Amino acid sequence: MDFQFDVPPALRATQDRITTVTANTLLPPSSRAAQGRNWADLSKIIDAMGLSSASAQKLPQVITTAERLAHSNHRLYLLRDVQASGCVILGFIKVGEKKLFLYDDAGKLHEREPTCVLDFYVHESCQRGGFGRELFDHMLEAEGRAPWQLAIDRPSHKFLSFLDRHFQLSGFTKQSNNYVVFRKFFTSGAGNGPRRGDKKLQSRQIGTPSSTSQMTDYRSPVSTPSHNPPSRYSRTGTPHSQIKTSAGLSEALGFSPMTYR
Ligand code: ACO
Repeated sequence: MDFQFDVPPALRATQDRITTVTANTLLPPSSRAAQGRNWADLSKIIDAMGLSSASAQKLPQVITTAERLAHSNHRLYLLRDVQASGCVILGFIKVGEKKLFLYDDAGKLHEREPTCVLDFYVHESCQRGGFGRELFDHMLEAEGRAPWQLAIDRPSHKFLSFLDRHFQLSGFTKQSNNYVVFRKFFTSGAGNGPRRGDKKLQSRQIGTPSSTSQMTDYRSPVSTPSHNPPSRYSRTGTPHSQIKTSAGLSEALGFSPMTYR
């Protein structure tokens, strides 16, 4: 995506293709002289990319904005074309921790606080060109995570295909909270390791649900603790139950139960 302004200083600081943007990056610089530069253009980039991502995923609401990032501890990895003469942004991936209640294959409920992929987008003009992989690999390295240690907030069919194609990740247990964790998340003891530089994150097993058959029916609401954070699709105020039972909406969102294995 081309922007009609110079590359903002925060992105120009290095010749790296990928810049990590956090709430701190968005703070206005303290000196007046520095404020005069186009530091605020970074927010415009994030808002525009977030809007395009939401539109590509047919999300009912934009979930990545500079404003939201500025009030979170999320990390947004922004990929730009450093060869381009102007400011050309190719894509981004946003991650952060969420406390989740997750069922494993045996129907046991676990409380975890994994690093979650919250938003992921590569511009339409360059999808399937390896930029998604570049962003994803960079994020894994920066976060000190393996792919199967992540939870993903209701991945699109393209993202599921991406994970299968690049990391051979496909099998997962359906969760009522719209997050996807792959089987290896539980079997390798993943998802409970500390993130690089973080204190050890919590992990504990809660128990076994009374009916594991519920877990095989994507449309059936599963009784889980109410502590689960809202998924991206419930941020509009749409009742969670409607989202889980609306096949039409799922289809519109590119989330087909047939993609499960
Ligand atoms: N249809 C199916 N699979 C696709 C498509 C597509 N149109 N585009 C990419 N993929 C998958 C495929 O597995 C593909 O491998 P293949 O070409 O051999 O079939 C693989 O991704 C290509 O890998 P990259 O080139 O590294 O990925 P890309 O640069 O296309 O980025 C991404 C992947 C981010 C999913 C991109 O396609 C995109 O932005 N899609 C639209 C937005 C989206 O769905 N984002 C994920 C939302 S879910 C979330 O954010 C938690």
